[in-house]
Amino acid sequence: MTLPSSQTTSGQCPRRFQMAAYEAAAGLDSEMNAAFNEDGYLLIEDFVPAERCNALMTRAAELVEDFTPDDVASIFSTTSLAHTRDSYFAESGDKIRFFFEEDAFDETGALNQDKALSINKFGHAMHDLDPVFDGFSRTPALARLVSDVGIAEALLLQSMYIFKQPNIGGEVVCHQDSTFLTTDPLSVIGLWFALEDATLNNGCLWALPGRHKDPIRKRFHRKEGAFATEVLDPTPWSAEEAVPLEAKKGSLIVLHGQLPHLSGPNRSPVSRQAYTLHIIDGTCRYLDDNWLQRDPALPLRGF
Ligand code: FE2
Repeated sequence: MTLPSSQTTSGQCPRRFQMAAYEAAAGLDSEMNAAFNEDGYLLIEDFVPAERCNALMTRAAELVEDFTPDDVASIFSTTSLAHTRDSYFAESGDKIRFFFEEDAFDETGALNQDKALSINKFGHAMHDLDPVFDGFSRTPALARLVSDVGIAEALLLQSMYIFKQPNIGGEVVCHQDSTFLTTDPLSVIGLWFALEDATLNNGCLWALPGRHKDPIRKRFHRKEGAFATEVLDPTPWSAEEAVPLEAKKGSLIVLHGQLPHLSGPNRSPVSRQAYTLHIIDGTCRYLDDNWLQRDPALPLRGF
């Protein structure tokens, strides 16, 4: 899917809301609820104070510093499924593991740049394993917001820290989060926090407003000791429908689990760091062939 060029997007303005409510559970008003139901996303500016964003970025840098890449180099790519054969990824659902950008290495396998500028992302259980991420992820405001968008019994399933590194930040192809994190009935909600300004130049999110009303078109799951992608509907998503969700630092974008979304590569000289949380409803059945599985010793928790 090729995104429209930035020159053609001037008429596409996503709805934006302001709510400086990270510490206080203010709740969504009826206009925000209506926008989420119509569009499948909610872009809330000024949600997280800059100092909270900075503290999370500092902690992320510390975790990367402590990570020793000698033993494993798992490249993260959504355009190739090589990483899915990698047990390092397969077992990361209840751990903190690091995945490199595809373009981080030279032809000999050596890093082209500093380790800190080579990591695509880390995940997937910082919200339970690291006190700083735990504190960022569990606030009364987030609990209220997730309840307001219809989650009866919230469980924090997955956390990801995404660097979208300068020059080599990889693209994320168009997908629905419920493809990867499936419950019956579907329930996943994504919380996407802009820790730095996300722009057309450094690979902001794009979404297809209203398409969250479509069923999921693929399922990615465990099958016979490996991973499989099951195509339920081969119709490709239409690039013309994609709207850029440029987001200033501190913005929160709430994503319905069936909303198709993507981001382009980052060829700019500035990073676009973001933190994402995926929440499911504990009243729905979590499928036991989902890729993300947790040790029963580390059960899912709510807010
Ligand atoms: Fe996603």
